[in-house]
Amino acid sequence: MRLLVTGGAGFIGSEFVRLTLREHPEDSVVVLDKLTYAGNERNLDSVRNDPRFRFVRGDIADAGMVSRLATDCDVIVNFAAESHVDRSLEAPGQFIQTDVYGTYVLLEAARSAKHKRFLQVSTDEVYGDVATGRSAETDPLSPRSPYSASKAGGEMLIWAYRSSYGFPAIITRGSNTYGHNQYPEKIIPLFITNAIDNQPLPIYGDGSAVRDYIFVEDHCRGIDTALRKGAVGENYNIGFGGETSGVAVADTILAAFGKPDSLKLHVQDRLGHDRRYAVDTAKLRSLGWAPRHDFTQGMELTVRWYVENQAWWRPLKSGEFWDFYQRNYKPLPAATV
Ligand code: NAD
Ligand code: DAU
Repeated sequence: MRLLVTGGAGFIGSEFVRLTLREHPEDSVVVLDKLTYAGNERNLDSVRNDPRFRFVRGDIADAGMVSRLATDCDVIVNFAAESHVDRSLEAPGQFIQTDVYGTYVLLEAARSAKHKRFLQVSTDEVYGDVATGRSAETDPLSPRSPYSASKAGGEMLIWAYRSSYGFPAIITRGSNTYGHNQYPEKIIPLFITNAIDNQPLPIYGDGSAVRDYIFVEDHCRGIDTALRKGAVGENYNIGFGGETSGVAVADTILAAFGKPDSLKLHVQDRLGHDRRYAVDTAKLRSLGWAPRHDFTQGMELTVRWYVENQAWWRPLKSGEFWDFYQRNYKPLPAATV
């Protein structure tokens, strides 16, 4: 298979590229990535000299470039997106441009190149806040942030292309993913890198909102399974099955470093903060997939990676990062302190 992996210089996309080249020797991969603040060519260092790999810098919304690349490949796997909920609350426009319009450009290119398969990497956040039980693939979508609405918008276009044109798309809906090479704005890499530097770990609100954290390699194996064994026209949830609160994430990281509880800092809550996501993964498991790392094992690997790869993340925690950090994190109102 010749894969066009869009967003392949990001956190999950780069792991998927490494996994594909390692486990599928007959495949080749072209990465198309705009290299936004979250993209990082260094994530692809280990495959750069592989003759089956090529990197192209560009925007998925650039129809000319996308259509040229689509002609020379068999399948598009779309990771490219603006991915941070807090940034979407501050400035939604680029999320709509990339996650909705960019998806449309990819669909048109795949359709005219007559691809037999397309995989859209979506998120469990499209189901919205789930108070009880687990979301099944057949549940209605109810996105509640500009980020999740943009991802759901991309999905809606795919749904329409399936019905209108018989477009052969598979959608995966992954849960909160952590591991090596994650830009240090998401909770786990932010808290690990702050803990290393004895900086406060900023917990939104009371820190009781839960997420189902899945290790990045497990998420990528799930995408690989859906791509190769899944049926076109189907959607597949991917998750570990756990429920970990923000406070529990902070406690795990402080314990790993033997750092004091006093580094926990409760700050103003995220607007519209979804309290819980939980997905039912029976459908993907029926294709032979299962996660291999529980939260304890995955966190051990992740903490070690950030300790040993400070040259990777230290340059990222500068300029633009701190500008956003200062705008985003606000002290609690006096009445609640
Ligand atoms: P990321 O922010 O680390 O990487 C996104 C990549 O896309 C970056 O390399 C960036 O440069 C690239 N990109 C952004 N806009 C682009 C554009 N217009 N054209 C080309 N490239 C562009 O994100 P991630 O965490 O690796 O997430 C990858 C995908 O997985 C996203 O679609 C996200 O919605 C989805 N997802 C993420 C998680 C998670 O917990 N991180 C969970 C489920 C689903
Ligand atoms: O569930 C899948 C989604 O997981 C992906 O689609 C998104 O791309 C990815 O960013 C992630 O979204 P979340 O909003 O769940 O991730 P984040 O790391 O931003 O937040 C996780 C939880 O931690 C959430 O309850 C908010 C809380 N949090 C987050 C940050 C950044 C804090 O308490 N403090 C923080 O500084």
